[in-house]
Amino acid sequence: MDLKSKIHTDRLPKHIAIIMDGNGRWAKQKGKLRVFGHEKGAKAVKQVVEGCAELDVKNLTLYAFSTENWNRPKLEVQTLMKLLISSLKKEIKTLHDNHIKLNAIGNLKALPTKVYNELLDVIEITKNNSKRTLTLALSYGSREELTNAVKQISIKVKNNIISPEKIDELIINQHLYTQNLPDVDLLIRTGGEQRISNFLLWQIAYTELYFTNVFWPDFTKQHLYDAIINYQKRERRFGKTSEQLS
Ligand code: FPP
Repeated sequence: MDLKSKIHTDRLPKHIAIIMDGNGRWAKQKGKLRVFGHEKGAKAVKQVVEGCAELDVKNLTLYAFSTENWNRPKLEVQTLMKLLISSLKKEIKTLHDNHIKLNAIGNLKALPTKVYNELLDVIEITKNNSKRTLTLALSYGSREELTNAVKQISIKVKNNIISPEKIDELIINQHLYTQNLPDVDLLIRTGGEQRISNFLLWQIAYTELYFTNVFWPDFTKQHLYDAIINYQKRERRFGKTSEQLS
């Protein structure tokens, strides 16, 4: 049965974020190199991007490469970077067809020049697609993002642009890479681990977490629907009581 029909379209998450984990283990299970898992993983990305667009989920954020991932074997890092360039080039039509604007968060300057330039090109090419946003977290680490925000705010305090008493959640939000995105409603992690791995620590304060054992390369639209159905069964109280909500 297609799970899509079970989704309440009036209560969709506005922002889904995904930790795409399990590429390496998926490949190993098949007796293949880890990079094969990443290649298959890129195909799963396309499925999920299209799945979110079909449902009209406005914001999708994918953890594609963390600050810690730079420590992986050189060949794996190189393959991931090549895969990024080829996927970006290949999927411009998918982005246009689905009215998706590309966005990126992270320490983008740390990316190889070719990747950085391709990324900026596709961001520019898709900037007028106004229905949906796909954000790639690249060379992203939440602690790095927060450290960076603290530095920027400190400089503004030093230059009398902000007074310390005026610093509030809104100001902190405005200094994060995600400043233009709404809070995450649903965070999905594939691959069986139940941790956050330095992803959007500030932004997930009230996010619903969904963990699945499915390895990312096997993740399909049906798995996405499953996660959304599970999300829609939850009561989001944001610190209030059930009675207050009803
Ligand atoms: C985690 O699996 C996955 C990554 C570090 C990279 C994610 C990249 C892709 C899905 C492909 C390209 C992305 C785009 C946006 C086109 P892992 O290698 O940590 O798996 P393991 O935990 O089984 O070792």
